[in-house]
Amino acid sequence: MENKTKPNGSANLSIGGKTVELPVYSGTVGPNVIDVKSLYAQTGMFTLDPGFTSTASCESQITYIDGDEGVLLYRGYPIDQLADNSSFLEVCYLLTHGELPSSEALADYTYTITHHTMLHTQLDRFFDGYRRDAHPMAVMVGTVGALSAFYHDSTDINDPIQRMIATHRLIAKMPTIAARAHKYSTGQPFVSPRNDLSYSENFLRMCFAVPAEEYEVNPVLAKAMDKIFILHADHEQNASTSTVRLAGSSGANPFACIAAGIACLWGPSHGGANEAALNMLREIGSVDRIPEFVRRAKDKDDPFRLMGFGHRVYKNYDPRAKVMQETCHEVLDVLDKRDEPLLQVAMELERIALEDEYFVSKKLYPNIDFYSGITLNALGFPTEMYTVLFALARTVGWIAQWEEMTTDPTQRIGRPRQIYTGAAQRDYVPLSQR
Ligand code: CMC
Repeated sequence: MENKTKPNGSANLSIGGKTVELPVYSGTVGPNVIDVKSLYAQTGMFTLDPGFTSTASCESQITYIDGDEGVLLYRGYPIDQLADNSSFLEVCYLLTHGELPSSEALADYTYTITHHTMLHTQLDRFFDGYRRDAHPMAVMVGTVGALSAFYHDSTDINDPIQRMIATHRLIAKMPTIAARAHKYSTGQPFVSPRNDLSYSENFLRMCFAVPAEEYEVNPVLAKAMDKIFILHADHEQNASTSTVRLAGSSGANPFACIAAGIACLWGPSHGGANEAALNMLREIGSVDRIPEFVRRAKDKDDPFRLMGFGHRVYKNYDPRAKVMQETCHEVLDVLDKRDEPLLQVAMELERIALEDEYFVSKKLYPNIDFYSGITLNALGFPTEMYTVLFALARTVGWIAQWEEMTTDPTQRIGRPRQIYTGAAQRDYVPLSQR
């Protein structure tokens, strides 16, 4: 990656009577950054920022978020335009190559991904080792990590061809692994991928077809699935992406790095919130109970929060939530579930919260997870699969960020420092004297 930060003046920091000049850089858009790389050498001090709320960990050209304006761009393209006009594989190409493909390039890329969807038969047998009631995310972490034991020929991170093949394999095999994780938990036989279907059609078929009858993929549902994948494809330096970058900074192979990203995504503060939002809507149950839950959400002494509301970065309507809301309506319409009580509760809850002073003043808006649970539930996925679908879609973002990091000439192993508050040096006390 060619670094593109531009110098834009400097910032002076006064410490103990000494003034240190630190360079300031500008990106294309977004806040400037103060380069503190030389701070320790110049002052003997570190900076402290445990949740990374003021720290840019890298330079990136992939995804841009403006949380105040509610903007999300992949390689400069707004998320709603991509969701409306593009396919997930086109977005995968965009994220990993930097530009939208020509029709010929997209056809070649689609062919390549489609022809990498099968799993090594020994990897298929791997599933038998998991307990039948294993959480599908546990199966994902284990199986994706195991890819490095099966595809040795694409683990040399210094070879650009091997890195490209690993990228293709990961994007192509995630739906097959995710569908098998689902099938394994239901006790149904695995369904093999079919090359005449699109990425999302194939995934739905691998999840829901059974050998006893023909399975026809509903094109509206396949389109909705594709949109859901597009919405989740990348989100800048979030916890799981930062995990992938940190794991990769030591030179670990891409399959191991993506397994690390999946492990991080599993947590309820990250990938698990859509499940929590759906459970909350179920708990509310009917429109007349909404005021009670809004009251609880505002009560400082009640730990209850409106799940699917608020975001660390977005202080405006999450642009993904808008698309997800439309997708939710499309799915429920085609399935003839327009009167789905959960949707009625969600719409009324959103209306009330967006007019309420508490939510308005704290800039709490619906996030992507508010409508995704209802949509995935209507599509037929059990709640344990929601984070798996997120992982499947986010794999392209992770691998694009991993590639960017691997080819960044300034890349070094990620090694944060700390402020140590433990015991100062002391002498060992023999066991007999303690
Ligand atoms: N319901 C009620 N009050 C809320 C909510 C909510 N959902 N979210 C934040 N607040 C209040 C919070 O109590 C605090 O109030 P005060 O200033 O009086 O103490 C204020 O708003 C700021 O909240 P915060 O927790 O300091 O903000 P944060 O940026 O650390 O947290 C969040 C962001 C997403 C963790 C939080 O909004 C939340 O818990 N939301 C519900 C869970 C959720 O939907 N998570 C999905 C996030 S989107 C998925 C993704 O992109 O990965």
